[in-house]
Amino acid sequence: MQTPAPGFATDIKPLFRDRDRSAMTFLFDLWAYDDVKANADQILTATENGEMPCDGAWPAERVQLFRRWIDEGCQP
Ligand code: HEM
Repeated sequence: MQTPAPGFATDIKPLFRDRDRSAMTFLFDLWAYDDVKANADQILTATENGEMPCDGAWPAERVQLFRRWIDEGCQP
């Protein structure tokens, strides 16, 4: 069975808390598709190595979902 590709609005945007968004507006808007897409590789690296969010690393399956979103073409 094929799992549908994750989409930004339904799967990715909800990963970012209000707090994440406010903390990061100096670099990008984590609730904006274009910004997250443009910075996807750095966001993946930062979450994967546990640097971000700085108040608690994402669990592996969350990082995996973000990676899959990139691998499957950053669907809106
Ligand atoms: C390119 C990727 C990113 C870079 C370079 C980056 C960089 C930074 C920097 C320089 C700060 C301020 C200094 C600090 O408090 O550590 C910060 C704060 C923060 N970032 Fe990021 N960040 C990235 C991605 C993210 C992502 C994806 C999230 C959430 C999933 C996130 C969540 C936060 C939070 C919650 C803070 C506030 C920490 C606090 O004040 O307690 N960041 N980030």
